[in-house]
Amino acid sequence: MSSTDSNAIRTVTLHMVSSLDGFIAKPDNTVAWMESASHYEAGVSISQEDIAAFLKEIDCYVMGSHTYEHALQLGWPYGDTPVVVVTSRELPPARKSVDFYSGDLKTLVDMKLAPRYRNIWLVGGAMLCQHFLELGLVNEIRLTIAPVLLGEGLQLFGASPAEQRWNLKNVVAYKNGFVELTYSASKA
Ligand SMILES: NC(=O)c1ccc[n+]([C@@H]2O[C@H](COP(=O)([O-])OP(=O)(O)OC[C@H]3O[C@@H](n4cnc5c(N)ncnc54)[C@H](OP(=O)(O)O)[C@@H]3O)[C@@H](O)[C@H]2O)c1
Repeated sequence: MSSTDSNAIRTVTLHMVSSLDGFIAKPDNTVAWMESASHYEAGVSISQEDIAAFLKEIDCYVMGSHTYEHALQLGWPYGDTPVVVVTSRELPPARKSVDFYSGDLKTLVDMKLAPRYRNIWLVGGAMLCQHFLELGLVNEIRLTIAPVLLGEGLQLFGASPAEQRWNLKNVVAYKNGFVELTYSASKA
């Protein structure tokens, strides 16, 4: 398959969990806010089997170096699925499935990822996601809104420069009060 063919079928999905007030991390980096204490009776529940089947469909994760370092501290949630960490530093590879990339992000997607992977998930953090959005490299945004106001922290879209239109594709409300919003990029 040529690189052009593979570019046509690859999808880059930006996935992030955000508070109601738009933060993706607290100043102290603790993550207890992502555990819901609320209950929404009409919401859907999802089994561990469903989650495992869904995650199996993801071919590759891409993340910034801060997210990588935090994921190592928390306990690696990405299994053996290939992970590309964007960094300008020489970081120790903590796992065989991790690869490091330094350089142009369009080249990363078009030359390194698209020929190998179809379902590419960009999983943070704010800085890397903003760079991907600025460059028009994101096809889909999946935002999971947690039922909590944090008041302060790291804003997902804090420094996004220009207006961009997105199309709402799906909304799923879960029993734990989280809501997942899926948007696709406008073709304009
Ligand atoms: N709520 C959620 O769903 C969620 C998801 C993911 C992460 N997070 C949280 O977000 C925080 C981290 O986010 P962050 O915005 O501080 O950092 P980040 O985006 O994870 O990482 C930033 C680093 O990535 C590298 N980088 C980013 N853009 C680059 C580019 N265009 N070219 C080259 N390198 C680039 C640089 O690494 P070097 O400095 O090494 O060169 C930069 O310092 C953590 O607290 C994490 O837990 C939350």
